[in-house]
Amino acid sequence: MTSKASPSELAALGLREGAPGCGLVIDGKLVSESVLAEVAQKSAALGLKPGLAVVLVGEDPASQVYVKSKGRAAESCGFHSVQHTLPVSTSQVDLIALVEALNADPAIHGILVQLPLPKHIDSTVVLETISPAKDVDGFHPVNAGLLAVGDIARALVPCTPAGSMILIERAANALGIDLAGKEAVVVGRSNIVGKPMAQLLLSRSCTVTIAHSRTHDLREVVGRADILVAAVGRPQMIPGDWVRKGAIVVDVGINRVPGEGLDSQGRPKSKLVGDVDYAGAATRAAAITPVPGGVGPMTIAMLMSNTLTAAARLR
Ligand code: GUN
Repeated sequence: MTSKASPSELAALGLREGAPGCGLVIDGKLVSESVLAEVAQKSAALGLKPGLAVVLVGEDPASQVYVKSKGRAAESCGFHSVQHTLPVSTSQVDLIALVEALNADPAIHGILVQLPLPKHIDSTVVLETISPAKDVDGFHPVNAGLLAVGDIARALVPCTPAGSMILIERAANALGIDLAGKEAVVVGRSNIVGKPMAQLLLSRSCTVTIAHSRTHDLREVVGRADILVAAVGRPQMIPGDWVRKGAIVVDVGINRVPGEGLDSQGRPKSKLVGDVDYAGAATRAAAITPVPGGVGPMTIAMLMSNTLTAAARLR
């Protein structure tokens, strides 16, 4: 499978030619920039400032980084952006009281409680307290249910699968592929990525399989995929030679593993890798997302898009 698109058409879709003998690279950073620019433009025309509240409990360093980037992206879109940072000892009752106050705050249209929460807090209870209309993570059962019944127009869709779906559509467009009837395999069955991803692919009339840790002969299942989405969080667990020739591969995994050598302060270097062996898969895929620079930037862009959607609906 080769692209029928010219380099400038590819760039407009957020794709580029890969290394010699490899498929197209789906540039999530480029696509996320176009999504953010569109959100900023629509936000300016909305007649009210979309408000996003991000709640962080504790001091998990990875969560601190994510929350900071979410705040920065919200500001770049011209949103009203607030962050509530609570100590790790915060009680569930106090966290729920904050969520309820945000539900009632007319300046806030989107609420995100950063996960994971400390062990003494039941995240299901907290997430179910968020008003479904402000649930920009799309984790509330009302939004999961709307997605499951195919009412995507009324749902708020979880950000990572929503962003992955845009990347798949861009790649299919560049390759001249009609998604309807294609074999889509999602590896991973989480509520945050795997299940909603499968629903989105089903809504595009793909034939969808969800594979997981108990799947028999994963290699055979993966090898059937015209569209492969890997979302398991295990470094390079899918070898490149499992990938079907001509597949579109979206790698949701972001795994930190030891790198080579030492950094400037003499500490062992680390690097990020996906759930798929990129180098091997790129020689077989028609289009593939890199890690980093693939799905990652799309998640934050879709959070902004959901906040805009929520604001427009609550207006
Ligand atoms: N922690 C890691 N990813 C996410 C996400 O998408 N949403 C929330 N709320 N927490 C996360």
